[in-house]
Amino acid sequence: MSTTTQQHATQDAAGDIPFIDAMSDTEGATQDRNLFEQTYGEPPAGVWAAPGRVNLIGEHTDYNAGLCLPIALPHRTYIALKPREDTLVRVVSDISPDKVASADLNGLGAGGVNGWAAYPVGVAWALRKAGFSQINGFDAAFASCVPLGSGLSSSAAMTCSTALALDDVYGLGFGTSDAGRITLINAAITAENDMAGASTGGLDQNASMRCTPGHALLLDCRPGLSALESVSQQAFDLDRYGLELLVVDTCAPHQLNDGQYAQRRAACERAASQLGVENLRVIADQVNNADNPDAALADVLDTLDGEVTQRRVRHVITEIGRVRQFVDAFAAGDIKRAGELFNASHDSLRDDYEVTVPELDIAVDTARANGAYGARMTGGGFGGSVIALTDKGRSREVAQKIADAFAARGFHQPRALAALASASAHRVA
Ligand code: GLA
Repeated sequence: MSTTTQQHATQDAAGDIPFIDAMSDTEGATQDRNLFEQTYGEPPAGVWAAPGRVNLIGEHTDYNAGLCLPIALPHRTYIALKPREDTLVRVVSDISPDKVASADLNGLGAGGVNGWAAYPVGVAWALRKAGFSQINGFDAAFASCVPLGSGLSSSAAMTCSTALALDDVYGLGFGTSDAGRITLINAAITAENDMAGASTGGLDQNASMRCTPGHALLLDCRPGLSALESVSQQAFDLDRYGLELLVVDTCAPHQLNDGQYAQRRAACERAASQLGVENLRVIADQVNNADNPDAALADVLDTLDGEVTQRRVRHVITEIGRVRQFVDAFAAGDIKRAGELFNASHDSLRDDYEVTVPELDIAVDTARANGAYGARMTGGGFGGSVIALTDKGRSREVAQKIADAFAARGFHQPRALAALASASAHRVA
């Protein structure tokens, strides 16, 4: 145990847990426009915004062609942008307003930009690579209230806002329809995977570009589906059931995130090939639709080599099943069951998929012990955030209990935010 941990071990109450408020579009646009004008000495062509997300359930299923259920947060990243005549890209953010990063799109290759600029530059690069050669350089300024590195998709908020802004100023016309947005989503994914070197499966970008207010997005990640087939909007009206959805960012230091994520993904791909299928979704559908799903799952697992692989596959198959069960339970107003499914999802991510850390587990246990209907980690894991479904008016108290539990263990102070199903990327000014 470190000295720091011992020092904090006797402390049993934390200060008030901070809540991160979302900026309104007017605040975000004003702040961002100011940063742009301060940096580049002229006004931007416009301001666009894209949200972070929380995934309600369906974790580590997107790259297995499975189902996910995200909502867009009211917390957004704003981009003020002006196109340039040349191929230079200059970007600045409110985190370091004095540091302008730049890159030239001309001759740029995969992985050719370091640091955070890889995300916005990567989007322009990906669109050019996809054949949109009219995309030139641009100046951009970012202002954001999406907490960074919290598993709430701050990177997708950045790539999706950039994609929408470029679509608009270059008149590509993809941003105005759900089907068109798939092209922009693909550019955002390519930017993250190939320019920033961050493995991502598509959940975050689809959430940022396709969610609608008051709804969760039931996203089907099977390849080859049309835009219409790949999503359905599910009413997610917390008020109707007298509920709140609390998000707590554990602020746990990320542990080997990239390597571990890639390893989980590779394990799933190996298992699919051992089972002779294109992806684990094929097996998940067979198992979850069987007369006796438990027996069908046991049969599948028996054919796999290695106890670890069996547990990884069990997570993916049961998690895909839980998404539909959650949708049905919530629609029927069976909040107790919805909460149980949150809990089962977390336990599976902890025990079978092994992507939780002590901070996530303690936060979840504390929320459950203090009256939440259910609680689970959200996002990729290895740090990041948890969500908890509570009665209306109770989420602050639950958040504080989590902060107290963290203080007692010498963990970082967590921070919280209130999740409301909000709008996808849009132009704000
Ligand atoms: C990260 C990835 C997503 C998804 C989740 C886990 O957020 O970017 O694509 O795989 O982890 O559900």
